[in-house]
Amino acid sequence: MCYAIPGKLIKIENNVATIDYYGEKKRALIGFTNAKEGDYVCAQGGILVTRIPEKEALETLDAWEELFFELKKIDKNLADKRRDIKSVPGEFLRIMEKANRRLELTRDELKLILGTRDKDELNLLFNTANSIRQREHDNSSCVHGIIEFSNYCDRNCLYCGIRNSRDIDRYRMSEEEIVSAADYAVKKLNFKALVLQSGEDPWYSDEKLAAIVTRIKEMGVLIFLSIGERDQRTYKRLFDAGARAVLLRFETSNEKLFEKLRPARKLEDRLGLIRYLKELGFLVATGFLAGLPGEISDDVINNIILTKELGADMYSFGAFIPVENTPLERHELISKEEVLKITAVSRIVDKKANVLVSTSFETLDKSARKEALLAGANSLMINVTPPSYRALYRIYDRRDDAYKAENEIKDVTDLLFSLGRAPIDLGI
Ligand code: 5AD
Repeated sequence: MCYAIPGKLIKIENNVATIDYYGEKKRALIGFTNAKEGDYVCAQGGILVTRIPEKEALETLDAWEELFFELKKIDKNLADKRRDIKSVPGEFLRIMEKANRRLELTRDELKLILGTRDKDELNLLFNTANSIRQREHDNSSCVHGIIEFSNYCDRNCLYCGIRNSRDIDRYRMSEEEIVSAADYAVKKLNFKALVLQSGEDPWYSDEKLAAIVTRIKEMGVLIFLSIGERDQRTYKRLFDAGARAVLLRFETSNEKLFEKLRPARKLEDRLGLIRYLKELGFLVATGFLAGLPGEISDDVINNIILTKELGADMYSFGAFIPVENTPLERHELISKEEVLKITAVSRIVDKKANVLVSTSFETLDKSARKEALLAGANSLMINVTPPSYRALYRIYDRRDDAYKAENEIKDVTDLLFSLGRAPIDLGI
């Protein structure tokens, strides 16, 4: 399966391409593909990543056509699903109708939504978020691959399983190993966007990282960097080498909590870096950890509002999972409902953004992926780290380390199709 159906480039204006997918028009930045009008192309995250030979593109489009329109119908039906709202009180209903009319909700209204535990209210909230997602993005969805290339980390964050002082087996993938993992993900598994993730590991110098990015860029994929708080200079160099997206959470908007959980680091420095990356032209995926100890309900709202203020192209919030042999090992796990509420409220607050289902949330609950996709999310990640390293990347302990990427791709494809979602670029 292809994680971005090709489209025909029908117009270029001011470095923005208009792409036609079976009559549906989306816009994407030209990127570095040298594509011309009339070419078949693939885009990811609103950026053209590769040209596709006409014969291959037409074959793919032909194979997809019937399914494409069928999926749209399934998605629309799910989004239009009649809601049983009889038992939802007037105030909650009023707020949902306001959100549905694209009006901005006040802080108090957001607080009220996030505070509910009532089943009918939750259903109405998730359905409203899903219907907003459908109107804004139609049934397009994106699936990114993630390669975790090093679990060395200079930092000692209290919540993290690869924190410097935790005694775990460490590994670093060589340039060749990283490039070959990317090659496999692109050529064999058909990914069009890859996240390169590691701890904060200065062993990878700017030169080493730039060489890796340059080689992977040649494969025609969108490269997301997820390498932590590195220098602006490093990021600039990697942008120039061809990376176009970053994944960098601010972790929490609560300054005191941030400083407690991330010894010797400052929230304002991290926010400054995220803002710099946005200005530089990177697509920015950012967000926070949900369920950190010491968090209060205002923090959750502040986290969502800060994600929006930072101009996040993609919301990425993880469910905090307590890890053995870390200072927070005994902390209580956040519930699935809480994370789903955050998903839905993020969609309501930022209608056009992409909302990612984090892998930690998927670890928390088997049905998390499906439920999040039905509560406003439209984006997923699949782990494509080589099997020999997977179990070692223990930011938190996972259950399914032995599960192969191929199997996960099948699960995700089946799930997306059952929900009527198609892998066409989300556009800009
Ligand atoms: N549970 C869930 N997510 C975690 N991260 C770090 N530790 C944990 C944990 N215990 C997340 C952080 C970081 C990302 C790479 O992993 O949010 O930004």
